[in-house]
Amino acid sequence: LTETAVPTIDEFTLLEMAQAVRRAGVLCAALDLAVFDGMADGPVESHELARQLHVHPRGMLVLLRALAAIGLLHTDGARYRLVPGVDRVLVSSSPDFFGETLRLAVSRYEWDALGRLSEAVRRGGTVLDENAETPEYPFWEDLARTPTPHTPLVADLLADVLAPWVAGRPRLEVLDVACGHGLYGFTVARRHPQARVRSVDWANVLRVAREHAGRLGVLDRVELTAGDMFDTPLGGPYDLTLVTNVLHHFSAERVTVMLRRLADVTRPDGRIGIVAITADARDPASDPVPHLFSALMLAWTHEGESHSLDRYRELLAATGFGEPTVHGLQGVPLRLLVADRV
Ligand SMILES: C[S@@+](CC[C@H](N)C(=O)[O-])C[C@H]1O[C@@H](n2cnc3c(N)ncnc32)[C@H](O)[C@@H]1O
Repeated sequence: LTETAVPTIDEFTLLEMAQAVRRAGVLCAALDLAVFDGMADGPVESHELARQLHVHPRGMLVLLRALAAIGLLHTDGARYRLVPGVDRVLVSSSPDFFGETLRLAVSRYEWDALGRLSEAVRRGGTVLDENAETPEYPFWEDLARTPTPHTPLVADLLADVLAPWVAGRPRLEVLDVACGHGLYGFTVARRHPQARVRSVDWANVLRVAREHAGRLGVLDRVELTAGDMFDTPLGGPYDLTLVTNVLHHFSAERVTVMLRRLADVTRPDGRIGIVAITADARDPASDPVPHLFSALMLAWTHEGESHSLDRYRELLAATGFGEPTVHGLQGVPLRLLVADRV
């Protein structure tokens, strides 16, 4: 254990941790009300902005001061302006606008789930009737519409890793289960004209995936299959099966069921690609993301958690796949595992 990596804990650091919810609330309110857009052309007074955005003057003033307090605005006491850099990421007309992703990162779904984490800890799983496993859960539709900035990077990584293996194959039948936006399968299809993709997810999510396939120019090589990936007929066989960012919704037992199902439809010379947040049980402090994500999965699913790389290795070996190669990108908390069907 590296004790130096752990900051000194006192009342103040704890309070700051507990009050992170206030910062998130202030940021979300400003995004919802388009406060940053209202300042894109330069400094404004609070009452002018309140009039422009049709909000209460007192509410506006409190919000602007809070935004200045967390370092997103400057004020001379009378007028407010964006601090340098905020216009790039928080003004909606910017090509780098990040607000939709931030809004998803603190969506009411996640807030509702984490607000009941203590009950989930008692029970050992979600207490929410409507949760991340609910068919046609609307959050997944929102996420499909606004993929995280990591998605295209890891989708390109997948296509790069597979490129030498795909080269020279006259045919590339791809199955992408729980496809969400579908970008993993569609990126492979865009790179390889011989690829055809079957993308599986709930019907509401597939409506969004269809739009992405159209935008990427691969819709004519994509088949969309709506239903539960655990019991919908998957067709096949496939050269490549993909299951990305979903196995953490389930226990190791359920992951085994899913991987067996995928092994059954993967050709003997085929491959599987898994993308996941993987946990390392040894020292959570050195890699906090997967452990915080497991807490979210505890609150939001019945049995989900970030599984470790070793566990993925074991599960792949137990379900008819070989030792995976593991790939990652600096600063991206996702791992790509690629394994041969054996
Ligand atoms: C976190 S998203 C991942 C989306 C995409 N694969 C990615 O890597 O970004 C999880 C997706 O799994 C889908 N999903 C979860 N359980 C499912 C099930 N039993 N059958 C079909 N889709 C499912 C959800 O609708 C959602 O689109």
